[in-house]
Parts: sequence; structure tokens; C-alpha cells
Amino acid sequence: MARPPLSMKPTGWFQVAWSDEIGVGDVHRMKYFDQELIAWRGQSGRLTVMNAYCEHLGAHLGYGGHVEGEVIQCPFHGWQWNAEGRNVCIPYEQRPNRGRRITTYPVVERNDSVYLWYDVHGRAPFFEAPDVFAAFGDGSSAADYYPQQRLFEQGHEMHPQYVLENGVDFAHFKYVHGTPINPVFTRHDFDAPVSYVDFTITFEGDDRQTIDEVQSGVEAINGGLGIAVTKSWGMIDNRTISCITPVDDATCDVRFMVYIGRPAGESAAKDPRRAGIKAQEFGAEIIRQFRQDIHIWSHQRYSDPPALASGELKGFTAIRQWAKQFYPDGVGGAAAEVYATRQKG
Ligand code: FES
Ligand SMILES: [Fe+2]
Repeated sequence: MARPPLSMKPTGWFQVAWSDEIGVGDVHRMKYFDQELIAWRGQSGRLTVMNAYCEHLGAHLGYGGHVEGEVIQCPFHGWQWNAEGRNVCIPYEQRPNRGRRITTYPVVERNDSVYLWYDVHGRAPFFEAPDVFAAFGDGSSAADYYPQQRLFEQGHEMHPQYVLENGVDFAHFKYVHGTPINPVFTRHDFDAPVSYVDFTITFEGDDRQTIDEVQSGVEAINGGLGIAVTKSWGMIDNRTISCITPVDDATCDVRFMVYIGRPAGESAAKDPRRAGIKAQEFGAEIIRQFRQDIHIWSHQRYSDPPALASGELKGFTAIRQWAKQFYPDGVGGAAAEVYATRQKG
């Protein structure tokens, strides 16, 4: 194993939990970006992610803190903090401490996931976390798919960028995933913080077929370095979400989710139980393929500059250039400005 030389504090949206892990009134502990964090859900359902330590005398709110309506109460002296991290009550004083604030993070819940916006400079989000259905603009929704199947692995010595580099790495599919021929990329769009990669790929047949005969592929959308969503065509209908989140300066948590399409109308009605089992099996197969990648990533040493074959040069150069905007010492400011200008009109 080798520690990633890339910054483990990249800017962007990163998955820190699944929504169903944090019910109303729950306080959930976690550690990401080298910080002790808590997520808690008020009675209204609103989810807050904040630093774990109380600004009074430093109790960890994840150990005995409890939710009262829309605030969290510290177990040590009963101070209460709201969803903005503001102190709203000191039980033995007339007034709260209005100046003191616990750092909170922008958070969105999407596709059953909790995404946190992280930026060392404290800038507001400058792109959106992609939705595995809406982002493809095809009118699909979760109702068209079986419930999501999940993988969760903690503490791998790897970096989010390794995963995205799969999106230009045509040569690994044959060796890691056993595809009969190399896939061919048909789109590489790295112009904005949300990037697009399409490729033609098959898992069927032998190596005598040509890529022109292949009638299946994958479209991928990368929302920064933390979230990648994919949609398949020409094969069993599936969508995936991969999320890699830095825990400290050497390790990441890996979450991967798969949705398998429900069969349309009649075939679904014929034998719904069997169709469900088939979907379960196919989802498990996709998760198995993702594990093959993890096995490589978690032992990989980031190579910079890499020894690229001439066919790899363009793709890897483009994705590594694109990735720089998310690093604290990169050109994130430029991307943020472009986005802000676009939002204004
Ligand atoms: S440490 Fe939290 S109220 Fe005192
Ligand atoms: Fe892969």
C-alpha cells in the first residue's frame, strides 16, 4: 500500500452516510476529512451535519447529545445548538451566546444518500451533486427500479481520483473485469466541475467481435471527485453510484450503490418473485465487479507522471487536468467563479 500523494482535502460533494441511518431524533457519529462530525435529524426531518465538539467546553455531541425539536442539546451542561450551529439556549442564563457557532456543512439528501459539501476555504457549493435518475434527463425515477443494493467498505488506503480515472482507462476492463474486447470511449467532456464520460462496452461474446458490432454501453456523470453516477444501455438496465470519501490523510470510505430496472408491464406481472431474485443476482454481480476495482485501488501507488501508452495520453491528461480544480492548491477559484457567473445568468 502507498499513501496517496494527492490532497485528501478536495473540494466537492461527498457521501457521509445513507439517509436511513439517521432517523428523526437520531444523532449519528462520523469521521471525515480528519474531523469528528455528527449528523442529527430534527423533528421536522431536517438533517444537519456539524462538527462534533460543543463550543462551550468541548463535549462530543455524538456521545449523549440529544435532539429536542429542531435543536441539539449537549450532554455536559445542556447548551442547545440549532441547525445553523448557533447557540440558542444556555439553561442557566438569561441569554444564549450569540457569537459562538459550531461549524455546519451544506448537506443534500439524494438517492437515499447524505452528501456533504466540503471545501477547505469555506466556499459555498459551486456545482450540484448528481442525481442518478434526474441527471440523465430521461424522465426515469426510483419507481422504475428495484431498491438500491449497497456496498460499504471502510478505511481503504486510496484516493477518490483513482476511481474517476477508470473513466478514461479503457485498458483495465479486459484485465480487471474480464471484458472480451477493449471498450471505446465516445465522449470525454471535462469542461466543468461536473464531467461526462460515455463508452461502448460489452461483457458478452469473445474477442473476435469488433467494437462496431457492440450494441451496449455506459454513460457516466462525475460530480466532482466524490460522486460518480452511471446509466447503462443495451444491457440489463442498471444504474450505479460510486462515492469515495476521505476519512483522514491516508484512507477513504467507499460506498457503491446499484439499481436494477424493473421489467416493464407483463413480464413483471408473470413472476414478480423470480424477477426480483434475478435483479438481486445481477446487482450482486455488478457489486462484485466494483470490488475487483477496489482490490486494485486499495493497493495502488499513484503514479505521477505515469508511463502512458500513446492511446492513453489524451484521456489521462484531460482527467488529471480536470481534477486539479478540486484541490486546495489547484485552480478551484476559477471553476467557482465560472459557476457563479453562470448562476447569475
Ligand atoms: S460542553 Fe457542551 S454544554 Fe458544556
Ligand atoms: Fe473498473
